[in-house]
Amino acid sequence: MTAEAPQKTPTITDEDIPASDAVRAEWGRRVEAEYRSAAITHHLTLWLIQMAASPDLIHDGLRIVGDEMVHAEMSFAAFADAGGTAVPPLTRESLALPLKPGESLEMAVTRYGVEVFCLGETVAVPLFKVLREGCVVRSAREALDRVLRDEVRHREFGWTLLAYLVEQPCADEVRALVKRELPGMFARLRRNYAPVGGEDKSEIPENDRKWGLMPIARYGALLERCLERDYRPRFGKLGFDVDAAWDEACKLRPRIGTS
Ligand SMILES: [Fe+2]
Ligand SMILES: [Fe+2]
Repeated sequence: MTAEAPQKTPTITDEDIPASDAVRAEWGRRVEAEYRSAAITHHLTLWLIQMAASPDLIHDGLRIVGDEMVHAEMSFAAFADAGGTAVPPLTRESLALPLKPGESLEMAVTRYGVEVFCLGETVAVPLFKVLREGCVVRSAREALDRVLRDEVRHREFGWTLLAYLVEQPCADEVRALVKRELPGMFARLRRNYAPVGGEDKSEIPENDRKWGLMPIARYGALLERCLERDYRPRFGKLGFDVDAAWDEACKLRPRIGTS
C-alpha cells in the first residue's frame, strides 16, 4: 500500500453554517453514488466468486460493499443536516453490471475492475482528500473522514485485481482489452472530472467548502496530477503504457452530457 501524505485536520464547528441548494444537491448525489458503488462492487464480487478467483479478492470485495453502504448512510446524514429530505430515486438499471454478448466473466471483470477501481477509486483518494480540507460541518466531515480512509483500500483492491488478472491464462486477452478500452475509459473520466470549460469554474462560496464541496476546476487539476502520480506508474508497473490512451482521450474532448 502506498504511503499517504499526512492529512490536514480541519476543526469541526458547531456553528450553524447555512447549506445552499448546491450543498443539498451534491450530498444527495453522493448518497446515490455510494449505493451505486455498493451495487457495482457486489456484482463484480459475484463474478469473482463464479470465477473461483482468489478468496482474498472475494473477501476484499465483500468488505468494500459494506464500506459503501456505510458511506451511503453517512452521506445521507450530511444530506439530512443540510435540509435535504428526499434523495432522487435511484436509476435501477445503473445498479447492475451488464455483460456484453459473448463476453467472458474474466473480460467483464477486467473492464469494470479497471474503470471503476483502477481509475475511479484511485482518483477518488486525492479528490476526497481535498474535499475534506476545509470541511468543518460535523456530519459532512465525519462522512468524508470515513470515505477517505476506506478509499485507499478500495484503490488497492483495483490494482491487486489487475495484477491478478494479468497472471491468469487469459492474460493476453486482458492486456488487449485494457489497451483497446483505456482511451474510452479515460475520456469518460475526463468528461466527469475535467469537462470542457470546467477550468474556468474555480470559485465556490466559502460556506459550500465548509460543507465539503470544491470547485469543478479543482477536480480537473487533481485528475491531471493523478495521471502523473498514480496512473502512469501503477499501470507502468504492470506493463501498460497509459500515455497514448490519455492523448487519445484528450483528443475526444468529451463534453458534459455526452458519452
Ligand atoms: Fe464510497
Ligand atoms: Fe469506494
